Amino acid sequence: MKIIVNINKERGIGCDGELLVNIPEDMKYFRKTTSGGVVIMGRKTLLSFPGQKPLKGRINIVLTSDPSRIDSESRDGADLCLGEAEALREAERLKNIYLSNLDKAAKGAKASEMETVLIFAGTKEAALKEAYMISGGDDGMGDSHVFVIGGASIYDLFLDCCDTCLITENDADYKADRFFPDLKADGGWELAEKGETKEHEGIHYSFDIYKRRGSD
Ligand SMILES: NC(=O)c1ccc[n+]([C@@H]2O[C@H](COP(=O)([O-])OP(=O)(O)OC[C@H]3O[C@@H](n4cnc5c(N)ncnc54)[C@H](OP(=O)(O)O)[C@@H]3O)[C@@H](O)[C@H]2O)c1
Repeated sequence: MKIIVNINKERGIGCDGELLVNIPEDMKYFRKTTSGGVVIMGRKTLLSFPGQKPLKGRINIVLTSDPSRIDSESRDGADLCLGEAEALREAERLKNIYLSNLDKAAKGAKASEMETVLIFAGTKEAALKEAYMISGGDDGMGDSHVFVIGGASIYDLFLDCCDTCLITENDADYKADRFFPDLKADGGWELAEKGETKEHEGIHYSFDIYKRRGSD
């Protein structure tokens, strides 16, 4: 399972419920990387999306202690919207949607040509169970197309389940109120790939990959 995140020099990721920066190439990288896969997020991150709608062409697992907080606008953004118990009952259907979405994504389909699913999970364990059930988890397919996409509380919660962090690091110094854990100070992680430095409107950034030490 992978984390995907955009951080600044101070590891800031957001402020007042919004992203700190909007870098078109990073958005494209995010879309391409997660296309067709499973994305795990917190309720506040769902609310930060355009129209508060789930990401198209992906299976969106949203952590919330109370699904009734997620209003009809978000639910209408999905072809299929399921609670925790229903998701478990619909295992075969969800696996087929996942495989079909991944196949279409590999052929370059647009997100609108794939199915969009919204699933609620009340706990970390429920979200993991759903993600593994859909992706094949440890047996078979693996979880290489399962992405933890934020926000701060969800990165903290799922970091120990991930072996890879896809980090877009930028040098903007905007004020943040949400932060990503310090992998550079964490002996359990190493920088596996440092991307070339790019620039957008004076902001420098690179696509870096951190791996958990000992993972392949
Ligand atoms: N830079 C990036 O790459 C990036 C990516 C994503 C988000 N962000 C930014 O991050 C910020 C949002 O982060 P955040 O930490 O405030 O919010 P968040 O993680 O998106 O969502 C928090 C919510 O998730 C639910 N939740 C968290 N842990 C849970 C658990 N163990 N069980 C059940 N539900 C749980 C709770 O929902 P309930 O209150 O409904 O219980 C909680 O209020 C925004 O500024 C956003 O723009 C940045």
